Amino acid sequence: MPTITLIQHSGESYTVEADDGATVMEVAIDNDIDGIIGECGGCCSCATCHCYVDDAWVAKAGTTTSQDERDMLESTSAPVKVNSRLSCQIIMTAELDGLVVHLPEHQY
Ligand code: FES
Repeated sequence: MPTITLIQHSGESYTVEADDGATVMEVAIDNDIDGIIGECGGCCSCATCHCYVDDAWVAKAGTTTSQDERDMLESTSAPVKVNSRLSCQIIMTAELDGLVVHLPEHQY
């Protein structure tokens, strides 16, 4: 089972297991980790699941090919950076075992 480390803006860090095929947003919600809201349930239509992919993981998970995600990233409340992703669009696989993401200061 792949693991994800989510680091909140405050610096608190949580490492949790993810079901293969689950999204980072789903894993954060299932583990009651503050900082990811996921208001739309993962439909790529709310931008309340914004995260920053850690520099070490940018090559594997830091960019999207989805125009919908790029469009939605324009409506995040926290600043968008080159490593910004919507966590509902990052699907966990064995290849992403150990993924680290940072959570923004706010989602609204
Ligand atoms: Fe709504 Fe990700 S949960 S865009």
